[in-house]
Amino acid sequence: MTTNQSSARLVKSKQRVADHGEVFTPNWMVDNMLDLVKAESERIDSRVLEPACGSGNFLVPVLRRKLATVEARYGKSDFERRHQALLALMCIYGIELLADNTVECRESLIEVFTGYLNAKPSDDWHRAAERVLAANIIQGDALSMTTAEGEPIVFPEWGYLGRGRFQRRDFRYDNLTQRASFQGTLWDHLEESEIFTPTKEFPAMTVEEIAS
Ligand SMILES: C[S@@+](CC[C@H](N)C(=O)[O-])C[C@H]1O[C@@H](n2cnc3c(N)ncnc32)[C@H](O)[C@@H]1O
Repeated sequence: MTTNQSSARLVKSKQRVADHGEVFTPNWMVDNMLDLVKAESERIDSRVLEPACGSGNFLVPVLRRKLATVEARYGKSDFERRHQALLALMCIYGIELLADNTVECRESLIEVFTGYLNAKPSDDWHRAAERVLAANIIQGDALSMTTAEGEPIVFPEWGYLGRGRFQRRDFRYDNLTQRASFQGTLWDHLEESEIFTPTKEFPAMTVEEIAS
């Protein structure tokens, strides 16, 4: 914790603590926890999901760590640096029950991302990041695995194909959570693609296409 991170920032109201268990994790504890998985937290394309992400107290530092890796590896090429930074953002996922926290989480992530790229709101990079976060940070219930509208939660799996092009395939979250339950069973030998089929596949997209 920065020693001045006040308890007011960790708790919004007693009612919300009682209703939703809403107590945010202090920065120092987040950093210590992320250090336990340091390499993964810093890897650009490690996929990180926080199923009760609040306003992003874990996801924002994860993005910062990934962007530090981007800068160290790709800082010399503006083209690669930008695309790798977007890939870093694409690998961050969250589910949050409350609308205001969901919005705050998206806004905090976009602030860090656009700050790193110095992207203005009218910029394709800014708009692409908004599109990514609208798909990756979901307002919903992580237990029932449904959105606020009662639909099954769907997450995009993004990948960077190189030369400025990204791929996207969407998967149902309830399906993905069954992945571990196949281990050690009769279906263990099957390729993941034989068990998990995307709900939607997109053609390769440029940043401009993601933004539009
Ligand atoms: C203890 S707080 C932790 C927030 C954040 N992970 C952090 O460490 O700062 C728990 C969060 O989970 C949210 N939450 C509670 N039940 C949930 C559910 N079923 N699905 C998704 N989010 C939920 C609350 O609104 C709250 O923001």
